[in-house]
Amino acid sequence: MLDSFFLPAEQGVHELDDLETVRKSFDWKQAEHQFSWHETGKINAAYEAIDRHTEKGSADKVALYYSDLSRDESYTFGEMKKLSNKAANVLKQKADVRKGDRVFIFMPRSPELYILFLGVIKAGAIVGPLFEAFMEGAVRDRLEDSEAKVLCTTPELLKRVPYQLLPHLKHIVLVGDGINEDEYFIDYKKAMDQADNDFLIEWMDREDGLILHYTSGSTGKPKGVLHVHEAMVQHAQTGRWVLDLKKDDVYWCTADPGWVTGTSYGVFAPWLNGVTNIVRGGRFSPSDWYQTIEKYGVTVWYSAPTAFRMLMSAGKVLAEKHNFSSLRHVLSVGEPLNPEVIRWGWQVFKKRIHDTWWMTETGAHMICNYPSMKIKAGSMGKPVPGITAAIVDDSGIELPPNTMGNLAIKKGWPSMMRAIWNNKEKYDSYFTSNGWYVSGDSAYMDEDGYFWFQGRVDDVIMTSGERIGPFEVESKLVEHPAVSEAGVIGIPDPIRGEIIKAFISLREGFEASEKLKEEIYHFVKNGLAAHAAPRKIDFKDKLPKTRSGKIMRRVLKAWELGLPTGDLSTLED
Ligand code: PRX
Repeated sequence: MLDSFFLPAEQGVHELDDLETVRKSFDWKQAEHQFSWHETGKINAAYEAIDRHTEKGSADKVALYYSDLSRDESYTFGEMKKLSNKAANVLKQKADVRKGDRVFIFMPRSPELYILFLGVIKAGAIVGPLFEAFMEGAVRDRLEDSEAKVLCTTPELLKRVPYQLLPHLKHIVLVGDGINEDEYFIDYKKAMDQADNDFLIEWMDREDGLILHYTSGSTGKPKGVLHVHEAMVQHAQTGRWVLDLKKDDVYWCTADPGWVTGTSYGVFAPWLNGVTNIVRGGRFSPSDWYQTIEKYGVTVWYSAPTAFRMLMSAGKVLAEKHNFSSLRHVLSVGEPLNPEVIRWGWQVFKKRIHDTWWMTETGAHMICNYPSMKIKAGSMGKPVPGITAAIVDDSGIELPPNTMGNLAIKKGWPSMMRAIWNNKEKYDSYFTSNGWYVSGDSAYMDEDGYFWFQGRVDDVIMTSGERIGPFEVESKLVEHPAVSEAGVIGIPDPIRGEIIKAFISLREGFEASEKLKEEIYHFVKNGLAAHAAPRKIDFKDKLPKTRSGKIMRRVLKAWELGLPTGDLSTLED
């Protein structure tokens, strides 16, 4: 068992102070009243996120603070309404965008990205955000599979768009300078200057497509996960329950919109709740990040373990130069949150870091730590009200507490994916015949109802007859003072079935050596269990990670076994 510890519940007024009572009586219908569809029967997520607030007296409130090395700007809800109207006009009139069309955005983070994102939705199209770092093959796969009609990009990134090979792509909107406009290429700036400030929003049914996020499977091509407008019910509600967003918060989600965290919780949740949202462009840098918190007085901060670990590696001295007193609530997502990181957050920010578990496919929070809950460090927390989670066996039968199995969610929640684009068979394969969505993660639930992540089902290691989740071992490894990050896999062994191999990147000031390997081995052996200690260790400068910060264990495994690495489009540079 992990070296876990408890942090007490937070004092204050939180919507889930009485979690169990809310859980018993809650139904997602109760969360719908804030939206306008009760009058019209129709909705549009961009209207609910932006325009609705301008009609309720918040037109002059800041919706977006944007900064990078060369820009420092702010936009009110009123300005975002106007600009997204203009963008919608450009898309509809110049690029012939119609309801249900797929419009992709392949751009670095910038205000224009968010304006176009909202414009696409207002025009009734399905928005497809792409990481700016994608190379040609990755861009092509996604535009081809979705039969995208329009792409918004920059002149620099256009070099990675093989548009001549994409017959469905009818127009490209270019955001930049010196653009030669023609029938095909639309100059964003020029078109925006000419566009009308008003736009007749395309009103949608709740089951109409909203967003298409491509996510990589462990093999084969990436799959397009489709979410619909109704998802916003859950984005808004979990924004209050889990992110604890309140009207005057200054909220910073560090995720890129190419990843679902950067849309569900980087666009929808904050803006549906009328909260001021911060976007920082450019690359990660510890001192820039700390300055961002200070400069804007960030109150709620949502990031990922990989970023926290990098901040940890940057050392306490740097952290101590900054003032974090504005922070009220800190959260993490995307991979397991090591207890060591929670301990560090408690020292440096004087805050509990709240782990949250969900997936591209689930569209929004599923299992989380709420302010009102005691945190068991290393646990993902408990299901949000309205969500039924369980550990099931391969045929969908529920398993008793403290048994490792498939983490599953009872089918039917607002932000559940509605399709894998063009692949019904794949979509159906997620569900058991008795109505469970099977996540592909392995976990167990303890006797208090807390869920503990063990790894992707394919990552679980069997050694000497024991099942070991790589995360437990990785968490122990990063407690060692020399270890910055660790990825653990099982490799075949004639005697033990598998043995554990760890790939480790060291903190600054530590040298790789056989002696250090020995020391780390004993550290895990004494701290966790002999069978869980890595018998093999490789030191690496960097571990292979996805752009969202997940250690790609399958790449480690492929390196190790000399196998093909599969789809690498989401690998960071
Ligand atoms: O394996 C789990 C891991 O990330 C997967 C989902 O990846 P993605 O769709 O890219 O993420 C979307 C936004 C969360 C999960 O199946 N994962 C996510 N959150 C956690 C996690 N693993 C452990 N703890 C978490 N809190």
